[in-house]
Amino acid sequence: MMTLKLYMAQRISALIMAPLVLMHIAVMIYAIQGGLSAAEILGRTQGSVLWMLFYATFVVAVSVHAAIGLRTVLSEWAGLRGGLLNGIAWAILAVLLILGMQAVYGVTAT
Ligand code: HEM
Repeated sequence: MMTLKLYMAQRISALIMAPLVLMHIAVMIYAIQGGLSAAEILGRTQGSVLWMLFYATFVVAVSVHAAIGLRTVLSEWAGLRGGLLNGIAWAILAVLLILGMQAVYGVTAT
């Protein structure tokens, strides 16, 4: 049951990331026209609720997806089980969420 929920969450997070990553690439191609500067990026992102939601959604999806995926790898490749396995997966989730949200705050806060 637990495994099924993790399986579903990893695939749903992958489905969420697919359009986000396409949008991300499109914005990058647009943004580098005529050079790229920090001022130009921050001019687009600072104070923008839409970009804040876009990147925050991206961070949550990647964090969930990576924590579950790496949990499977740690289980199969390192043979971890039970509380240790789940503890490390939760720690990966927490670190990715904290670092990611700090980055979102860094570029969108005014
Ligand atoms: C747009 C971005 C991404 C998409 C669309 C995506 C999609 C997928 C899909 C479809 C799978 C296959 C799951 C399966 O069949 O078992 C997968 C597995 C995996 N993904 Fe991602 N992924 C993305 C980004 C990431 C990132 C950033 C990480 C960072 C760690 C990651 C880590 C993993 C891992 C470790 C697995 C293997 C899980 C397993 O073996 O069961 N993915 N991903």
